[in-house]
Amino acid sequence: MRRAALVTIFVAGITLGPGVRPSNVAAQSAAVPLALDGEASARPWHRYHEWPQRDSAKFNTLAMLASPPAPTQPRKVAGSVAGNSALGAKLAADRSRGGSCLACHVMGPAGDADLPGNLGPDLSQIGNAGLGDETLFNFVYDARVYNADTLMPPWGTHGIFDDQEIGHLVAFLKTLKAPAPFKSDLDDPAKRPPPVENRDNLDSMLNPAMWAVDDKAPALWTEAGPKGAACASCHRDPARAFKTWAAGMPRWEPRLEKVMGIEEFVTRHARATTGHAWPIESAENGALAVYLRFLANGSTIAVDQESAPAKAAYARGEALAHRKVGQLNFACLDCHDAGRGAGKWIRGQWLAQLRGALDHYPTWRTSLQATWDVRKRFQWCQVAVWADELPPDAKEYGDLELYVTAQSNGLKLNVPGIRH
Ligand code: HEC
Ligand code: HEC
Ligand code: HEC
Repeated sequence: MRRAALVTIFVAGITLGPGVRPSNVAAQSAAVPLALDGEASARPWHRYHEWPQRDSAKFNTLAMLASPPAPTQPRKVAGSVAGNSALGAKLAADRSRGGSCLACHVMGPAGDADLPGNLGPDLSQIGNAGLGDETLFNFVYDARVYNADTLMPPWGTHGIFDDQEIGHLVAFLKTLKAPAPFKSDLDDPAKRPPPVENRDNLDSMLNPAMWAVDDKAPALWTEAGPKGAACASCHRDPARAFKTWAAGMPRWEPRLEKVMGIEEFVTRHARATTGHAWPIESAENGALAVYLRFLANGSTIAVDQESAPAKAAYARGEALAHRKVGQLNFACLDCHDAGRGAGKWIRGQWLAQLRGALDHYPTWRTSLQATWDVRKRFQWCQVAVWADELPPDAKEYGDLELYVTAQSNGLKLNVPGIRH
């Protein structure tokens, strides 16, 4: 009896002692203090100044439908299309027009560093296919009249190319009559080697995101906020307390009625406990987001997708991953689904599938010399398709993060990652 009583006390100790609670009950712990009022990121949301400032208000976002409808009929083209094939060749390679045609098609002689992609068929002999001018014109103007599920942007309907420019492109397509001579394996998307990431991401010499773990987060942990407390006041041994916690995030938070990621948790929990103002995308928030995930490294990602509210959030996230957004009209899964873009090249960029896409977030971007959290990555994947991004704590991103992270359930966290 005495023994059983001891066991009970021991278990109760685990359950109640701050921070030594097993993390799988995290979802039920309504006791976690959270400031529920206000937003968790800046409002009004202003795009990062170093990003393109294009106005995409006339096109779908993940929060709003605005894009013009797809045409139901091909446009009539009388006779043959007038166009200049040399101008067409230039337009086809023009990266400033959404990466243009070479983003997805091999189209004959490659220029220097053209790096054509392969989401679409090789068009280097399309001039022999016997397609009429009207068909070619409409394929470029808006391929949805032939294939409702096409990956190709509606260049005409969405105003990326005007009729005259499409005429030039058609003239160029008609000149393509011989297999593309590739100058090297890099030119040929079928032979270009996919990037291999095998740097030691936990080596601070290689990965500056580790500085958050080594210096910044431990300093923040003991820094008292306006309420007099520091994180350390209540959590003295975070390495032990939060050994698996991050692997269950994001999660549905009933008090907020949305999916909450680690970054939003840090904002609202700090506001409630220490009084620190550490909004999402602030340096402090980013450091703690890296640190809390780092503490759970090696544990198995296990995002709840079974409870009723999580299941509903997953379904909403999945629907958002299928939604076409922006002037270029892409859905997440157009690029990241194995049956569509994933495993292929969009110009020089190799597309990853969603499983494994977030197990290393936040991630150091060597090309940008910056650490990106999950929501910033989502924002960029919107801005890159000429769509307006949402504020990082938008509920749509919550649903999407739950859906995308759940694809990695069963994999192990390995944070901070390091990527090009
Ligand atoms: C995001 C990828 C993507 C981009 C960018 C793209 N296409 Fe396509 N294109 C496709 C895919 C995929 C197909 C195959 C049919 C389909 O899905 O509609 C296709 C089909 C075509 C076809 C019909 C080929 C055939 O054999 O029937 C033509 C013509 C074409 N594209 C021209 C262009 C031109 C011109 C541009 C640039 C203005 C362009 N494409 C840009 C993805 C793309
Ligand atoms: C005044 C006490 C207090 C302070 C200060 C405090 N926390 Fe907490 N924290 C709690 C309580 C209570 C819980 C819920 C029970 C538990 O997990 O220990 C909690 C839970 C957590 C959890 C687990 C959340 C979950 O869903 O179970 C994390 C992570 C965390 N805190 C991080 C922090 C960080 C980072 C700071 C500094 C910004 C901080 N805490 C400051 C009291 C505090
Ligand atoms: C036009 C293609 C395109 C679309 C559409 C797109 N992405 Fe991406 N995404 C990329 C590219 C390119 C990268 C960087 C290379 C890679 O890892 O795939 C990337 C990277 C990512 C990564 C990080 C992968 C890693 O391993 O670091 C995530 C997560 C991601 N995208 C999520 C999304 C989500 C969610 C959406 C929809 C809101 C979306 N993407 C839409 C092209 C796209």
